[in-house]
Amino acid sequence: MDLSGKRALVIGAGRGGRGLGRAIAMGLARAGAVVAISGANEKNAAEAATAIRETFGLEAFPFIADVTISEEVTRLFEAIVDAIGGLDIMVYNAGITRDDLLIRMSEEAWDAVLDVNLKGAFLCSRLAAKLMIRQRSGRIVHITSVMGIVGNKGQANYAASKGGLISLTKSMAKELGSRGITVNAIAPGFVETAMTDGLPEEYRQDIQKMIPIGRLGRPEDIAGPVTFLCTDEAGYITGQVISVDGGLFT
Ligand SMILES: NC(=O)c1ccc[n+]([C@@H]2O[C@H](COP(=O)([O-])OP(=O)(O)OC[C@H]3O[C@@H](n4cnc5c(N)ncnc54)[C@H](O)[C@@H]3O)[C@@H](O)[C@H]2O)c1
Repeated sequence: MDLSGKRALVIGAGRGGRGLGRAIAMGLARAGAVVAISGANEKNAAEAATAIRETFGLEAFPFIADVTISEEVTRLFEAIVDAIGGLDIMVYNAGITRDDLLIRMSEEAWDAVLDVNLKGAFLCSRLAAKLMIRQRSGRIVHITSVMGIVGNKGQANYAASKGGLISLTKSMAKELGSRGITVNAIAPGFVETAMTDGLPEEYRQDIQKMIPIGRLGRPEDIAGPVTFLCTDEAGYITGQVISVDGGLFT
């Protein structure tokens, strides 16, 4: 997969070593892209950029922005244009969970999850699309979740946000296709990251038994398909949701 000369931004790559964002940023850099990394944690974003520079000898730029605050997102995109001169690829990976059963779920937990997972995606995608429309080409990938397709007990806020992200993806694909911009979503199943570390061991084992491939996903399992969707060869794929779940929900 060749992304030489492409300028990429991965939003939500500030978790450090085990997050999907770091693996996605590494995957894009492995294919030759110059990568800007944005996260909520300055130290982690800087570490991810250093890891890319040291591993691939390519430029990588760390940024900090809270995706729920419009002014910070605007400043982020201005800084990215200054640093890398434009944008060919944007991956929206920021996401949080605040699980609870519906009848116990607080309004605050609902708002927090919808703000990061859906409103943040809207704010970032709107600015990415503006830049890409000018150059009449671009690739946008949203990281949703299989829970946004099938729903989940105890995750009404998360599933609704990820379902909303799928609808945003499809609507954007329809609006932007004629401008040479593709917009797709990757829906991971259960992947070994800090987000799934908290699963009770018994539940984890039950899930593993239900996954045809026989194991939870690794961050690299997600990074590969994301990178492919960003290549020239994937230029006729848009508005799609690709589940990467080891066959769990087939
Ligand atoms: N791990 C899984 O099993 C799994 C499964 C399906 C989908 N996903 C999705 O994949 C994505 C990455 O998940 P992960 O497991 O690597 O989680 P993670 O917590 O490691 O990564 C989430 C990222 O979002 C960033 N973020 C959170 N709030 C933010 C804010 N307000 N502003 C800016 N950045 C913010 C964090 O800094 C972090 O880099 C998420 O969107 C998640 O919903 C994960």
